[in-house]
Amino acid sequence: MNVLGIESSCDETAAAVVKDGRKILSNIIDSQEKLHRRFRGIVPEIASRSHVEKINAVIEKAIQKTGRVDAMAVTVGPGLIGSLLVGKMTAEALAWAWDRPLVGINHLEAHLFSALLDSPRLEPPFLGLIVSGGHTHLVIVEDFGKYKTLGQTRDDSAGECFDKVASMLKLGYPGGPAIDKTAKLGNPKAIPFPRPYLTGSWDFSFSGLKTAVLYYLNDFPEKISNVEDICASFQSAVTDVLTHKTFLAAKRYGLKKIAVGGGVSANSELRKKFNIESRKSGIRAYFPSLILSTDNAAMVAAVGFYKHQRGISSKHLQVDPSLPLTNWEKSSLPFSLSPFGERGG
Ligand SMILES: Nc1ncnc2c1ncn2[C@@H]1O[C@H](COP(=O)(O)OP(=O)(O)OP(=O)(O)O)[C@@H](O)[C@H]1O
Ligand SMILES: [Mg+2]
Repeated sequence: MNVLGIESSCDETAAAVVKDGRKILSNIIDSQEKLHRRFRGIVPEIASRSHVEKINAVIEKAIQKTGRVDAMAVTVGPGLIGSLLVGKMTAEALAWAWDRPLVGINHLEAHLFSALLDSPRLEPPFLGLIVSGGHTHLVIVEDFGKYKTLGQTRDDSAGECFDKVASMLKLGYPGGPAIDKTAKLGNPKAIPFPRPYLTGSWDFSFSGLKTAVLYYLNDFPEKISNVEDICASFQSAVTDVLTHKTFLAAKRYGLKKIAVGGGVSANSELRKKFNIESRKSGIRAYFPSLILSTDNAAMVAAVGFYKHQRGISSKHLQVDPSLPLTNWEKSSLPFSLSPFGERGG
């Protein structure tokens, strides 16, 4: 079955066709990065206008050489309301015109399963880590549509923290790739930035770390020239926390697989640390290819296939800018007996 996925929740206009939830036949991404760069962040009104201008051409390109489309999937949240509406209305109109089933997809769910497209043998159950521009979630994925969120960020997401620190260092937007690149030239042990482990909870918190970088820059203005060491030390702190907590949770819940998704999963240091920990623990870590780490529609189409397979589709969808990650059916997860009660390690 060929599923056409459409993604417009933030600043990427994307469309892709995926066969049977696994094989990418086309994957078109039109990024608005250049439009938002001078504002050092995304301007919602500019984002939705650009989606309107681009979406038809992007879809046309995605379906040009892929043959038939059997079903459609579109992101319905979380995201920017105007941007989400462009995708939803386009998808609804096409589903009606082509008489195809349509599935609404949670953007977080799409990130959660993005590694599936590069790893044909990856199946739930696994522990999912979503590290994106707006979210940091640690989730037990028992099956498609069956989730138990262990923890999430209490303040800034990992991606937001990368972007804000990059902005302080005048490295431009988006900050993650710039910090990743600059950090390669620095010493990760140069500055002992704090590691917010939040022991006793599976939650994350990165705003204190961001403030620590700010205080460092205020207290030692002469050291701003040492931007490579600052990037390497900051990145080391974030990736230490993400690696430690994720592997601890996988061990506590007896999960042998971890799947990481979202823009920060592109980070080279995070990938390196997960690989090292993976070899030590025997817990396998799966990452999406770099192009599938950030927003794309192939991951939307992949989840759309599994949702459609379970008989879920609708010609009329609701968008929700704050859509939470919820189960497709009522949960039957046997995970209520946490080794720490309801909280984590
Ligand atoms: N190599 C990298 N290292 C660290 N962070 C990165 C890297 N590449 C991208 N990022 C970060 O990923 C984020 C963008 O990821 P993504 O596209 O998944 O987020 P989003 O869609 O805006 O947010 P969400 O998925 O939460 O709605 C940005 O914060 C960016 O700085
Ligand atoms: Mg995203």
